[in-house]
Formats: sequence, structure tokens, C-alpha cells
Amino acid sequence: MNLHFTEEQMMLQKMVREFAKSEIEPFVEEMEKGIFPRELLNKMAALGLMGIPVPEKYGGAGMDFTAYTIAIHEISKASATLSVILSVHTSVGTYPILAFGSEKQKENYVKKLATGQYLGAFCLTEPSSGSDAASMKTRAVNKGDHYLLNGSKMFITNGGEADTYIVFARTGEGKGSEGISAFIVESDTPGFVIGKDEHKMGLNGSRTVSLMFEDAKVPADNLLGQEGEGFKIAMANLDGGRIGIAAQALGIAEAALEKSILYAKERQQFGKPISAQQGIAFKLADMATKVEAAKLLVYQAAWLKQNNLPCGKQAAMAKLLASKAAMEVSTDAIQVFGGYGYTKDYSVERYFRDAKVCEIYEGTSEIQKIVISKHLLK
Ligand code: CAA
Repeated sequence: MNLHFTEEQMMLQKMVREFAKSEIEPFVEEMEKGIFPRELLNKMAALGLMGIPVPEKYGGAGMDFTAYTIAIHEISKASATLSVILSVHTSVGTYPILAFGSEKQKENYVKKLATGQYLGAFCLTEPSSGSDAASMKTRAVNKGDHYLLNGSKMFITNGGEADTYIVFARTGEGKGSEGISAFIVESDTPGFVIGKDEHKMGLNGSRTVSLMFEDAKVPADNLLGQEGEGFKIAMANLDGGRIGIAAQALGIAEAALEKSILYAKERQQFGKPISAQQGIAFKLADMATKVEAAKLLVYQAAWLKQNNLPCGKQAAMAKLLASKAAMEVSTDAIQVFGGYGYTKDYSVERYFRDAKVCEIYEGTSEIQKIVISKHLLK
């Protein structure tokens, strides 16, 4: 694994850092009020950020998965709300079509997604099917030139804002993961209904909704891959998705660390900066070590993915460790800031609220341990 970024990757990193400073940071307060950052997404589209790892042929920037990971990492330092929108759009909203779609589907959808004309979403979770994804109940019945979908989905990131939804539903009689198929569902499909918005602990500017399918009529051409291939499509794309969430957690943790170092050097108590107190200095050392460990795992997983090497185990490890680091480092950051850290005047309380979901979505930490141990024991 090459730990040095290429010139192209460093240029992207610089560009995203500048964008974060000039455009994202000034909009964080609006997002905290629950405003969806549509304008920021349009600006990101103009910069080519909505399809970083997508080949130029399909409207993307034609860069590699490490470049995409760098962008998620950097955006997360400014706003985890914005990075989850981009991560879901790219790695589970666009990639499944790129990896499993027909040429016609790539022409029709990937081009619009990668250029930011469309926003993507991914619909696996249901009210009674979360960690046990294979227990889903949503059903799709083949009617020849179309399928009729019935059922509901839950906790859908980008729901209500997206133009295309990768939807998983049962088409066969097989139990568990067998008989699940994947579909590309457009937002204006008759019988496709947007349900209630969740009021979340964090990621306030991102939308998370439930969805209902009431005899939703999906063209047969929008079946993704073959009938019965859906579970594998979901799992294969979650491998990449989990690298995005791990990079998000890394960004949150690093932002919390950087803010804590600055504050500890400034804040005076007992006649000297609190950074000169070993209790705080050692805390910073522990925080930095966790961030560094997360960085290595995240970029290792990204490197494996971009080189088309198996990355499921390392993606799960990266997500497990980086999300734990984000939770611990943001908790410590609040401690470094003391009373001020508990107020909304400083961003560390936002990092803490945003970090928690990294241990939950795209597979809980417990699910990552199942994935890792299955790899170890097979
Ligand atoms: N790639 C390709 N195929 C895979 C795979 C992978 N990474 N992982 C499993 N499969 C295949 C298996 O090989 C197996 O195929 P065969 O039957 O042909 O052997 C099939 O899928 C079933 O595999 P398992 O027996 O391992 O399946 P399981 O039912 O035991 O479930 C699980 C495994 C890992 C627990 C899975 O259910 C899981 O990942 N659960 C978590 C769900 C999740 O991550 N949800 C996230 C929702 S999206 C989201 O959160 C987005 C957002 O908003 C941010």
C-alpha cells in the first residue's frame, strides 16, 4: 500500500479544503437548523465532486477511490451532514448501477448521478429489518414489462431529495438472502410515497425518511442485475459504502482533535495553558493516536477497493475502528473544552452528536464484528 497521495489526489484535497472553508463552514449553522444543503450540492456538482470515482465516460471525474475517500474525509471535518449525503449518493446510490447495471442503465442514470443532475439513495432497511437485512418483506411481483412493488423502507438517507433510489425487494420464494432483487426506482414512480422525516440527534441538515411502495409500478428495465442477485449487490456495495462512513468518522475525529489542540493551547487555568497540564496533554496524545490508527485503516481499505482487491474485511475494520475513534475523540474534546464544550457555541458538541450514528448506519459496530469474524473463520 502506498501511503503517499498522488499529485492529483493532493490537488483534490486542497480544492476540497478550500471549498470547506469558503462554502461549507459558513453554511453549517443553516444545516444545523435542518436546512437541506441543495445549493452546496449544486456547487459540489460544478466542481465534479458528485462523481469522483466514476469514469469520465459516465460523467464522473474519473478519479480513484482514494480520491473519493479524501473528499469524504475533508468534507466531514467541516460537515458530517454534507459528507453523508455525498457518501450515500456515491457509494451506495451510484456505484451499484456502475457495478451491476446494464449499459443502458449506466447511460440513463450514472451520467445524471455523477454530474449531480440527480441525487441517489439506497433503500435496504425496513421497519422490522435492520441488522438482519435478509429478513426484508418488501415484495416485487413480475408483471412482464413492469414489477409491482409493495412494502416500506425506513431510515433512508437522502429520501425525499433523491431522484433515484436503489430498492431491494423479494421477487422469489427463497428464504433469507435468496430471492431478493435490486431495482432502480425513480422518485416520480406512481405508488412511490415519501413518508415521515426522522428528527435525529445529529446530521441535522441531511434528510432521513421512511418510504412506502403502494403498487409502485417499476419498469422491468429497471431491474438491476439479475433476479435473485439483490442481496449480493447490497452487500458488495456496502463494502465500499462502509469505507465512506469510516472516512466520515475519521473526519469528525480529526476535526475534534484539531479544535481541542487549539483550545488547549489558548485556555489558561492555574496560570498556564491547559495544554501544559499533563491530564490534558495526555488526553490529546491518546486522541491523536486514535485518529492516526483510523486514518491508516481507512486509507488501506480505500487502496484495496481502488485496486479491485477484496476489501470487505478491511472496510468493516476501518468502519469499526474509525467510528469508535470518532465517538471517543469527540467525547474527549468536550472534556477538553469543559463547560464551553457542552454548549452550542462550540462545534465539539456537534461532532459528538454526529459521531454516534457512524457506529450505527451502514451496519452497526456489532455487524462489522460479524463481518470481520466471518472473514477470519471461513
Ligand atoms: N459481497 C458479496 N456477497 C456477499 C457479501 C459481500 N460483501 N457478504 C455476503 N455475501 C453473500 C454471501 O456470500 C452469501 O451468498 P451465498 O448464499 O451464495 O453463499 C449471501 O450474501 C448471504 O450472506 P450471509 O449468509 O453472510 O448473510 P446474512 O443473512 O448472515 O447477513 C450480514 C450478513 C453481514 C449480517 C448482513 O445482513 C448485513 O450486512 N447486515 C447489516 C445491514 C446494513 O449494513 N444495513 C445498512 C443499511 S444502508 C445505510 O445505512 C445507508 C445510510 O443511510 C447511511
